[in-house]
Amino acid sequence: MQVLSVASEVYPLVKTGGLADVAGALPLALKGHGVSVKTLMPGYPAVMRAVKGAKLRLGFENLLGARADLLEVEHQGLDLLILDSPVFFDRPGGPYADATGKDHFDNWRRFAALSKAGAMIAQGAMADGDGGWRPDIVHVHDWQAAMVPAYMRYSDEPEVPTLTTIHNIAFQGQYGADIFPYLDLPAHAFSIEGVEYFGGVGFLKAGLQTSWAISTVSPSYAEEILTPEFGMGLEGLLTIRQGDLHGIVNGIDAEIWDPATDPAVKAHYNATTLKIRAENKRAVAERFGLDQEAGPLFCVISRLTWQKGMDLLAETLDDLIAMGGRLAVLGSGDRALENAFHAAAKRHPGKVSVLSIYDEPLSHLMQAGCDAIVIPSRFEPCGLTQLYGLRYGCIPVVARTGGLNDTVIDASHAAVASKAATGISFSPVTTDNLRRALRRTVGLYHQPKVWTGMQKQGMKSDVSWERSAGLYAGLYTSLIAKKGS
Ligand code: ADP
Ligand code: GLC
Repeated sequence: MQVLSVASEVYPLVKTGGLADVAGALPLALKGHGVSVKTLMPGYPAVMRAVKGAKLRLGFENLLGARADLLEVEHQGLDLLILDSPVFFDRPGGPYADATGKDHFDNWRRFAALSKAGAMIAQGAMADGDGGWRPDIVHVHDWQAAMVPAYMRYSDEPEVPTLTTIHNIAFQGQYGADIFPYLDLPAHAFSIEGVEYFGGVGFLKAGLQTSWAISTVSPSYAEEILTPEFGMGLEGLLTIRQGDLHGIVNGIDAEIWDPATDPAVKAHYNATTLKIRAENKRAVAERFGLDQEAGPLFCVISRLTWQKGMDLLAETLDDLIAMGGRLAVLGSGDRALENAFHAAAKRHPGKVSVLSIYDEPLSHLMQAGCDAIVIPSRFEPCGLTQLYGLRYGCIPVVARTGGLNDTVIDASHAAVASKAATGISFSPVTTDNLRRALRRTVGLYHQPKVWTGMQKQGMKSDVSWERSAGLYAGLYTSLIAKKGS
């Protein structure tokens, strides 16, 4: 089975969050299920620099107003199709925003162009000549790629089955109606059955409307987004399409994330040699300038945003320190939240420390050395850092929502007694409940037998892609069968 995957970020080439991890790991996991994936992504400067020996496959003379080449290359086991369009993608800053954090002014055009290219490839643009290729199904990720099924719906070529995966419904790609004439779509696409959304153009809405099937990255989130609280305006559409909506939990690349071999980890260990973690704990404390002392070392590896509940954590920090905890924060985001954490670090030197940088290797070392990772998200489609935590014996302390709910087993009396517990979870998501959860965590930490038991149980949980890749393969197969019927 041949799949075209379309994503705006792909690990290891470019990453701002979990989407990249998923877009980079799922194709590798699918290989074992007889599924071969080509991934279409933008040719950002970092991508163009990293790939070597890319071959020109196609030229688009005028892709929404700009020239673009389609390059093909293999990179670390991934078959990549790179949309090389300097007008759209060769610029400083990140994939979505400039260096000051301001969105690129033409994101709608950049990602509509990516989607249009995806639709044309899906409908046979690469089919001719030697090594011609045509996918059996197209799998698109988030709003940046969500116009692919819409472009297909409104072209004259036969449709190809499509799956749109929602990684985060908070980001929808909503624009004014004034962009519509530039999207290269027929006039009737500006309708409720097409791309129209509250009088403007909605990229994610268009994808959810026109895609053959929809998925999101955990079963709990698939239920939550049917409600106004989590659906962010799309709950009505999703409820109508409920029969085509699936929840498949993310996995992690268990080869990259393995504490026994991870090159970013100072002292390697496994579930039977957990004592070795102490050396990594010392290394984390040293890197963050924290006191070397007994007591639990908590960490955060996250965007510092409201979604992630970071304001709640900032409010509990004085109590956390009073309980004997220390905290290492790796992350950046909202200025006000960054300031709140930096202020706490000033109040509690040696106890709280913040690095507002993006550092992939350091994130690995933290999982290998910290005792617990705090994830008090208000909503969390899946979340990956709790999965890394489980694999590394870094106990997750999580809000009971979305994928956090589906992957962490709370240390209730019953779960501890039956040795099923893998973390601490709480709900509803309030400062008081978080404080209580942190207190519970410190209490468990001081019961070494229970704590180690939880670490071991977490390290045993299956967080690999194996099962979920099988579910995706099954879903692809059922959609392709629908085409034939
Ligand atoms: P989201 O995609 O909503 O940000 P996830 O938990 O799915 O949340 O994924 C976040 C990913 O980004 C994880 O791989 C995490 O380790 C990584 N990450 C977040 N912040 C940083 C940072 N400052 N440095 C390194 N990695 C980070
Ligand atoms: C999004 C979500 C996160 C999820 C990730 C990968 O960024 O916020 O919960 O893990 O996508 O699916």
